[in-house]
Amino acid sequence: MLKRHIPLKSLNTFGFDVEASMFLPVADTAILQNVWKTNLLSMSSPLILGSGSNILFKGDYPGLILQNLISGIDVVSENETHVCIRCGGGEVWHNVVMYSIQHNWGGLENMSLIPGTIGASPIQNIGAYGAELKDVFEELDAFDMWYGNMVKLKAADCAFGYRDSIFKQSGKVRFFITHVTLRLSKNPQVNVRYGDIASILEEWGITKPGIADVSRAVIHIRRSKLPDPAELGNCGSFFKNPVVRRETADALCAAHPDAKRFDQPDGTTKLAAGWLIDKAGWKGFRRGDAGVHEKQALVMVNYGTATGAEILSLAREIVEDIQAKFHVTLEMEVNTR
Ligand code: EPU
Repeated sequence: MLKRHIPLKSLNTFGFDVEASMFLPVADTAILQNVWKTNLLSMSSPLILGSGSNILFKGDYPGLILQNLISGIDVVSENETHVCIRCGGGEVWHNVVMYSIQHNWGGLENMSLIPGTIGASPIQNIGAYGAELKDVFEELDAFDMWYGNMVKLKAADCAFGYRDSIFKQSGKVRFFITHVTLRLSKNPQVNVRYGDIASILEEWGITKPGIADVSRAVIHIRRSKLPDPAELGNCGSFFKNPVVRRETADALCAAHPDAKRFDQPDGTTKLAAGWLIDKAGWKGFRRGDAGVHEKQALVMVNYGTATGAEILSLAREIVEDIQAKFHVTLEMEVNTR
């Protein structure tokens, strides 16, 4: 049922007080087929919303918002080593992670507590603590809003990259992801190499961790570093970690031996944007209600009444400062509308 002038404050985790001109909750694919026949999708620049945890609204949204509420988790195939689960795009990502852990199906544990929905997970190929969506991705179903039919896309069709996919590039404003099928392992091998996971497990006296232990450790780390959007408006990492030429990284590290670098197999180097922003002195900075989180410089926060424009203007200032100080260009990770 199409609604008009719907407040979005509780539907975006920055907590901006904006509204959508038109709003359509989508609980099944038939709704998409019906609305496509009306021409509304081609006329009103539709925006697909999951739980609003990676979007910055610059102001009221003048077009149509489609909220993905498609639910369900089903086992669709299984063999001795793997199981494939097909999940509705509106399912909460973390609930699916918890479901997989209850069944001892491995692959999602390092991505515990990432905010957002299943349908949003392929868009920026979500990842954390050494795991990415693409590692467990089997296929997805989407409604093609250009042609009005359902399509199946495999990993190669999605062009997954670091916080990137076809859905942020040529497929933007085209595909409504209705279901994602994940391929999970029945004999999980834990990966505790990234960050503080191993040290936390050791602190807890866990010598042979299972996926539930890894999940608990990840939840513990995230809660200690990242602000809870229910308490402080934010969208997680606001910028991507910049991927630069090896020479650029070498020059930076020569000037700043404490800089964090992660050399990639393709000869490039990923730098820690959080380190750069922190080093430049922005961590904990606040102007009005717009700020940089005090524990994790990669996260921009809304202390209450900041607008998207204010957060964006502060973010642009940070980008310019990092460019001037370190000759590195930061790109936003969060989507803006
Ligand atoms: N660092 C600082 N100061 C800061 C923040 C970070 O010096 O204020 C340093 C840390 O000490 C560390 C390095 O930067 O050496 C990297 O920091 P961290 O491990 O916290 O990860 P990140 O690069 O800041 C990325 C993802 C997160 C993900 C974590 C863990 C991106 C843009 N962000 O953050 O993803 O949870 O790694 O895997 O890739 C998200 O996408 O929203 C997100 C939270």
